[in-house]
Amino acid sequence: MLQVDAGLAEGVSVHATWASAEVAAVVQKPDMTTRHTLLIVDADPTFLAEVTHTLSVEGFTVRGASDLGAARRSLAEKTPDAVVIEQRLPDGLGIDLVRELRSKADAPVVIMTAMFPDTKSVVEAVREGALDVLEKPVFPERLASILIPAVEDARHNKAPRNEAGTNPDLSRPPIIGDTGLIAAVRDQIARVANTPSTTVLIQGESGTGKELVARAVHFDGKRAKRPFMAINCAALNENILEAELFGYERGSFTGANANGKQGLLESADGGSVFLDEIGEMSPGLQAKLLRFLQESSFKRVGGVKDIRVDVRIIAATNRELWDDVKRGSFRKDLFFRLNVMPIRVPALRERREDVKALADHFLRRFAIDLRKQVSVFSPDAMRMLEAHDWPGNVRELRNTCEYAVIVCDGTTVEPRHLALPETRADLSVTVSASAPVAASPSGSLLPLRDRSLRSVEEDLIRLVLAETKFNISRASRQLGINRSTLYAKMKAYGLETDEAMVGAAAVG
Ligand SMILES: Nc1ncnc2c1ncn2[C@@H]1O[C@H](COP(=O)(O)OP(=O)(O)OP(=O)(O)O)[C@@H](O)[C@H]1O
Ligand SMILES: [Mg+2]
Repeated sequence: MLQVDAGLAEGVSVHATWASAEVAAVVQKPDMTTRHTLLIVDADPTFLAEVTHTLSVEGFTVRGASDLGAARRSLAEKTPDAVVIEQRLPDGLGIDLVRELRSKADAPVVIMTAMFPDTKSVVEAVREGALDVLEKPVFPERLASILIPAVEDARHNKAPRNEAGTNPDLSRPPIIGDTGLIAAVRDQIARVANTPSTTVLIQGESGTGKELVARAVHFDGKRAKRPFMAINCAALNENILEAELFGYERGSFTGANANGKQGLLESADGGSVFLDEIGEMSPGLQAKLLRFLQESSFKRVGGVKDIRVDVRIIAATNRELWDDVKRGSFRKDLFFRLNVMPIRVPALRERREDVKALADHFLRRFAIDLRKQVSVFSPDAMRMLEAHDWPGNVRELRNTCEYAVIVCDGTTVEPRHLALPETRADLSVTVSASAPVAASPSGSLLPLRDRSLRSVEEDLIRLVLAETKFNISRASRQLGINRSTLYAKMKAYGLETDEAMVGAAAVG
């Protein structure tokens, strides 16, 4: 029987307190490239011990804390990938800690546990950033099945800013497709992956997989063990982009960190920097980037010292960059310097034969993620997918598959589960029974076929929540999605408003 000693209350690593050979063996499991970290906060030592044991086997390094104080001390030392917090603790309420965690820069995945969770506290916890509230008794295996995908997802999303190479499978998802066009892209990736200093320019329509290609260039080559850092040139204003990329010296501008800061180029030394939407870069920064490409050195903002780094630049754009050059908005010399090794990612409609493999891949993936039984497309559904034009390319196909998995309750996706323009008429039949379009809760008066999938989905969720008086379990059953997916969608659509709380309070 595993014993938890007093060290736990101090947030000391559980492994340090056990001399158990069994646990030590688990920690050294050879095929494990990265272990996730978990802090579990609960006053019940038996529960702590069980969770620690099971989650250790599942690849987590677990710390335990028996009250809020111990949890805070542990968190001050290091933020774990995930935190599981009991609602009632000897020195206060778990929700306070959930709230504190939300403000952390590297916010962990948070799960709350509670003996008798009522709707109001569930809505509050989710609003404060918890992924879910689990009713006790909680089986450690169930905790693992929720935490593993959540932590891996979070890690995947943070991947551009992480030390690369820690988890190659997550950092470099497979590129699906067998047509000649995508095989040619794969060949080009293999070739440039072997020339680690060549600059790469990736062009292609939105959603074709440019970032995926960029990751492959990095992770298939010699730089794979070094960082892959991504930055979107369209998302930041010129000054912030410059500071993020090149770093800055102390006091170089108002609001700057007192000690100055390394930029991405320095942090990525030895690795790659992915400049997404390079076509949006301002002329001033284009000049500074060109100088870096020519000399492999640069100055921080407000700095005088030349800093030398070894970084491969991978740039991407969904614009016709050459048109921008002709128009004078993009420097010709920079274009040629970037265009050393161009890769053009084809639109999905140019390689329709890949639709089936991609759709099957996404169906499998979402069925696992959303814990559904869906496993195949009916021949009619597949024909529709193959005939569609896919203006949003692979991303649109991916979203279509996710939607199909959410709305399909059986094992086979039928045309009515596909939210394609061709099938929206079917969809209107299904939805209009309970939701007359003219009285759509979001106030949209458009006929269904002219509305976006998001807005239809939002309306459906609003309706079901209202019908079930915010009973999350019933609503999620009725919608055919699990509770965490529903919470995530409520959050995305801003449905955890005061109105929701009033509704929740009424039933909770
Ligand atoms: N060949 C492929 N195999 C598997 N998944 C793919 C493929 N191409 C794209 N995807 C997936 O489609 C989505 C969109 O891809 P990605 O973000 O790389 O596109 P993008 O070209 O960078 O889009 P944007 O121009 O909008 O930034 C991602 O989820 C990606 O993993
Ligand atoms: Mg992209």
